[in-house]
Amino acid sequence: MMTTKTAGFAHRWMEGENGHTLLLLHGTGGDEHDLPGLGPALDPQANLLSPRGKTLENGMPRFFRRLAEGVFDLKDLEFRTQELAEWIAAALEEYEVDPARLTAIGYSNGANIAASLLVSGKAAFSRAILMRAMVPFEPPALPDLRDKRILMLSGTRDPIIEPANSQRLADLLQQAGAQITLRWSETGHGLEQREISGARDWLASGSK
Ligand code: MLT
Repeated sequence: MMTTKTAGFAHRWMEGENGHTLLLLHGTGGDEHDLPGLGPALDPQANLLSPRGKTLENGMPRFFRRLAEGVFDLKDLEFRTQELAEWIAAALEEYEVDPARLTAIGYSNGANIAASLLVSGKAAFSRAILMRAMVPFEPPALPDLRDKRILMLSGTRDPIIEPANSQRLADLLQQAGAQITLRWSETGHGLEQREISGARDWLASGSK
């Protein structure tokens, strides 16, 4: 369903039953239909809010432009981060979502825009699961993230992200005060089922 306030991004909203909301941010080439299948595996009762990234790379939706794999267009990243932050604020109002019970779930490019929202101090969500994330940009100053709880799922053999880069993101988030858990799997860019099960338990253990 589209409405005027939230019309800025094509998206899906699926009503749940427990007052929790998962903000689903897809990877390159995904769309708003990509991650809702993951929602029930993480929290079967939650509302799902799933926007589609607005930039296109050879026809593939993304949340911001890149110049090459892992090399971001920083001007576009800044603009898109602000644009998404404004849309999320409007969507929270429209769908009456409690930010204290909002968790961002991002995969790859979606995890990177979620990380950008966090390090720029524009994240309305209180928890995040960042799957295959890297440092979106080096912030000139760190925001106060003491109210954020974050799980990072990274692969030791990820061909797109150097382990040191994921570690650097975890360090930045920790320095900003976030409660951060970084879990490594001996795998590549794709997710493994047991990482999803682990993420479900992590989410349930901190739910109010
Ligand atoms: C990105 O561009 O955000 C990362 O390279 C991950 C990807 O989407 O392939």
